[in-house]
Amino acid sequence: MTAVAEPLLSLSKYYLPVYRPRQLVLERGRGARLWDTQGREFIDLAAGIAVCSLGHDNPELKAALLAQADKLWHTSNMFYSEPPLQLAQALVDASRFATRVFLCNSGAEANEAAIKLVRKWAATQGRPPEKRVILTFRGSFHGRTLATVTATAQPKYQEGYEPLPGGFRYADFNDVAQLEAAMAAGDVAAVMFEPVQGEGGVMPASADFMRRARELCDQHGALLVLDEIQVGMGRTGELFSHWNWGVTPDIVSLAKALGGGFPIGAMLAGPKVAEVMGAGAHGTTFGGNPLAAAVAREALRILSSEAIKANVQRQSAALKAGLEAIGTEFGVFEQVRGMGLMIGAVLKPEYAADIGVLLDLAAEKQVLILQAGTQVLRFVPPLNITDEELAEGLKRVREAIAAYMAAR
Ligand SMILES: Cc1ncc(COP(=O)(O)O)c(C=O)c1O
Repeated sequence: MTAVAEPLLSLSKYYLPVYRPRQLVLERGRGARLWDTQGREFIDLAAGIAVCSLGHDNPELKAALLAQADKLWHTSNMFYSEPPLQLAQALVDASRFATRVFLCNSGAEANEAAIKLVRKWAATQGRPPEKRVILTFRGSFHGRTLATVTATAQPKYQEGYEPLPGGFRYADFNDVAQLEAAMAAGDVAAVMFEPVQGEGGVMPASADFMRRARELCDQHGALLVLDEIQVGMGRTGELFSHWNWGVTPDIVSLAKALGGGFPIGAMLAGPKVAEVMGAGAHGTTFGGNPLAAAVAREALRILSSEAIKANVQRQSAALKAGLEAIGTEFGVFEQVRGMGLMIGAVLKPEYAADIGVLLDLAAEKQVLILQAGTQVLRFVPPLNITDEELAEGLKRVREAIAAYMAAR
């Protein structure tokens, strides 16, 4: 974005420069549309980063937030309030496996709770510390705290932050032989992965890998931990992504779409592990905040609906078909992959170095998309996106690709 000078952009010098945002300042949104401070209108095929799953300015979420804002904002976890109690019950009921929930504020915090629960469970099993290894997979992304960045098996997120916490081991994702070998060592307390790797490049777990992970965990007395922070809450076509594979996990982490844009995270614990943490074993000041919980309760109700599920299926087919058509017309994509409304268009190697240019061009054509891995354009629009919004978004993506090809 070059043409318009936005004075607010100069204030970005006060940020710790850990992000590299596109040079525009978003001001308001409605559905899958956003407007910036210059009045330009964008189609949002990013939804934050798979967060605003019910679009912007959703009237039902707003009503839930405002109703709670009139009553109570914060109690701490030293006192109960109504919204988190009801949200915990709704999550347990919806999950089909969990018996207890820990509410927190972000994805990393939900995974941190999952990691600590694994370790605590392993301790209660009498496993010595060296037999409490958590097996994670290359290309994964689990968060930015020291433990979750260590679980994230990608050196680029870890470099410079050593010494990292111990007790993690890595294998290649979807490699059943490596999974079997790692489990055979006898020291793995948990296997942890995303059913569809998000940041790593929109890569679904194979049916075989998911099935063997569950079997091997049972065989070796280990836990299956699924990070559904990006894939959960309807994004891959089912409310819980693992339902697509028919497996039952021991622990699931959620965040992102759970709050529909309001920060919240949750760790769901199944019966094997739900009783091992007692009073004082873990905690957070803001977790289960009444405002966040009230919004999440309403988001969960809507995201559980048949209407959302049907829309995800319908728009998934349209998004894939649209991207495949663009790929055929311009010969830019190696593959279009993913599930539901989590779709990756993999750039051919000769275009991968220009992925940043493509994201800039998309923003110039007024459509917001994301990157995953080094060569994947990631599309994670709101799950209630309409036919018209998606068609307009695809039209603008096509214009961006056409402009890129013309300039080469
Ligand atoms: C799969 C997955 N796990 C964990 C996280 C970390 O979540 P947060 O940024 O809310 O800490 C993310 C964020 O992108 C994610 O995609």
